Amino acid sequence: KHFSIAAIPGDGIGPEVMEEGLKTLKRIEELHGGIHFSIDAFDWNCDYYLKHGKMMPENGLEILRDYDVILLGAIGAPSVPDHISVWELILPIRRTFQQYINLRPIKLLRGLDSPLRYKAHDDLDFVVVRENTEGEYSNMGGRIHENTPFELAVQNNVFTRYGTERVIKYAYSLAEKRTKKRLTAATKSNGINHSMPFWDEIVKEVSRNHPSIRTDIYHIDALAAYFITRPEELDVVVGSNLFGDILTDLGAAIVGGLGLAPSGNINPEKTYPSMFEPIHGSAPDIAGKGIANPIAQIWSISLMMEHLGFSEVADLIVDSIEEVLLEGKVSTPDLGGKNTTSEFGSAIHEQMTFK
Ligand code: NAI
Ligand code: MG
Repeated sequence: KHFSIAAIPGDGIGPEVMEEGLKTLKRIEELHGGIHFSIDAFDWNCDYYLKHGKMMPENGLEILRDYDVILLGAIGAPSVPDHISVWELILPIRRTFQQYINLRPIKLLRGLDSPLRYKAHDDLDFVVVRENTEGEYSNMGGRIHENTPFELAVQNNVFTRYGTERVIKYAYSLAEKRTKKRLTAATKSNGINHSMPFWDEIVKEVSRNHPSIRTDIYHIDALAAYFITRPEELDVVVGSNLFGDILTDLGAAIVGGLGLAPSGNINPEKTYPSMFEPIHGSAPDIAGKGIANPIAQIWSISLMMEHLGFSEVADLIVDSIEEVLLEGKVSTPDLGGKNTTSEFGSAIHEQMTFK
C-alpha cells in the first residue's frame, strides 16, 4: 500500500527528532515489502513566519488536505510569540481536519523506571482520549472595562452534543478493544454546573450501549490524584479539551517524561488527514545540541501505523524501543545516557526486524 505523508519538522529540536522519524519510515519500507511512503517536507515554522508574516501559506490547509497523514516535529521559537506559532499552525490543522481525538498512550516502557516506584511495572498502561476541537479552548469570550476597577474577562466553554458524543463513543470503542474493559471519564459537575452535567449525561447515555465496560465518572481533582495513587485501575480515560491536556502531561510525567510521550490527532472517519506528533515542544534549552530524545517522535509513527491499519508494524516499533531501553547501553541525557539523538535513533532502527 502507498501512503502520502506531509512532514512538518518545525522549530528547535523538531527537525532533529523528525530526522529520526524519517529514518523510521525508511526502515518500515525496507522491512515490509507492501508499504511505500511518499514524503513531502514543509518548512512551515517560525523562520518561515519571520520571512512571510504567517506560519504557513494562504493555501496551506488545502495543500495538506490531499495527504494521507501529517507528521509534525514541534513548533515554537523564542523569536515568535507562542500564541502565533502554536495557534496559527497546529490549531487550524486540528480543527479544519476534524481531528477530534487527541490520543495519548500512558505506558511505562520496559527498561524504564517510573517516578512511581511503588507501582508494579505492568500497572502503568492506559490511554487518555482528549477532546481536541471544542470545550474550554473555544476562543469565545473577551475582556471589557480594561484598566478600570470593573475590568473583567469571560471565556465560554462550548460543549456540543455532536462533539461530546463523538469523543465519548470513540473512547468506548477503544475500551472494547482493550483488556481491562474500563472507562474513566473526567468531570467537574460539582463546580461547573451546566457543561459538566451535560458531559456526564452523555457518558451515561453512551455507556448503555457498552454493558461489558465498567464506567467510572470522577471529578478531575480526584482523578489527578488517582493517576498517582491508583493508575492500575485506569484503562481508557476520556476528558474534555482542558482536562485531557492537563491529565496527559501528568501521565507523561509518571511514565518517564516528555521526551518519550507521543500523540495522535485523529480524524477516525479518515475524511481528512490525521496528524501524529510528540507531546513535547521545540525545547529551545537543548536545541542544536543533538541530544533530544527521539522516542516520542518514533513512537508517534507507531500510532500512525496503527491508524493506517498496520498494528504489527506499530507493535514492532514499540518493541524495538523497549529492547534498546532494556539493553540499557544507548540513551540520551534526559534518560541518564550520553548518546546523541541519531545514535539513539540508529540503535532503535537496527533493532527493528521481523523475527
Ligand atoms: P518543551 O516540551 O519544549 O520543553 C520542556 C522541557 O522538556 C525542556 O526542559 C526540554 O528540554 C525537555 N524536553 C522536551 N522534549 C524533549 C526531548 N525530546 N528530549 C529531551 N528533553 C526534552 O516545552 P516548553 O519549553 O514549554 O516550550 C518550548 C516551545 O515549544 C514553546 O514555544 C512552546 O509553545 C512550544 N510547544 C510546542 C508544542 C507543539 O509543537 N505541539 C507543544 C508544547 C510546546
Ligand atoms: Mg499540554
